[in-house]
Amino acid sequence: MKPANDPNIDYRELVRQSYDACAHEYASSRKHEAGNEIHALTSRLDDGASILDIGCGAGIPIARTLSRRYRVTGVDLSQEMIRLARQNVPDANFICSDIMAAGFTNATFDAAVAFYSIFHLPREHHRALFERIHRWLKPGAYLLCTLTGRNEEAYVEDDFFDVTMFWSNFGLDEYLVMLREVGFEVLDVGVTGAGWGEWVEAEEERHPLVLGRWVG
Ligand SMILES: C[S@@+](CC[C@H](N)C(=O)[O-])C[C@H]1O[C@@H](n2cnc3c(N)ncnc32)[C@H](O)[C@@H]1O
Repeated sequence: MKPANDPNIDYRELVRQSYDACAHEYASSRKHEAGNEIHALTSRLDDGASILDIGCGAGIPIARTLSRRYRVTGVDLSQEMIRLARQNVPDANFICSDIMAAGFTNATFDAAVAFYSIFHLPREHHRALFERIHRWLKPGAYLLCTLTGRNEEAYVEDDFFDVTMFWSNFGLDEYLVMLREVGFEVLDVGVTGAGWGEWVEAEEERHPLVLGRWVG
């Protein structure tokens, strides 16, 4: 783990290039179908609901499983991830964009999901991201996202699927305050494993899984 504080490095571009480079390997290590991790959301949604998948990756497993019952729009920074997602989930709609540059009409979606993606944006932008999501959601809609337990300064690691990757995150307590301030009621805080499995024993692989609801 090394501090990500080099002013000469564009860390957003690093994330984009690194996911382009490791998209295949990352996707093939991911399980094929989503299970319990989406249940708190799917148990509350009607069939045909519209869902935004933020940092959708190659569309597996989240967009793939959701697209069987819902209308899914996936957004991802990586062109290669989006290319794979279109192959893997032909029934969903995919957009290649930085989520901070994406433009959706206000009150478009019944839910948004973000699995293992928010921590790749600089944490100074996380409140603004939640504000954008809040605007794009319909009143009463849901946000299901993986967050982080610990507050950590931005850092890079060189051994993420053989590429250098960037992370930046607050701790769960700060996120829960932020979500409430932005206009979400926190309905549920669970835990899920690493992105590529169900392994939740190691502390660094335990990701808080938070379900929020738009309350104005
Ligand atoms: C760890 S992968 C998770 C992919 C997928 N959600 C899953 O559950 O496997 C993180 C994804 O977030 C995407 N991502 C990172 N920063 C992003 C940004 N600013 N805007 C959109 N997507 C982003 C990456 O390209 C990558 O596909």
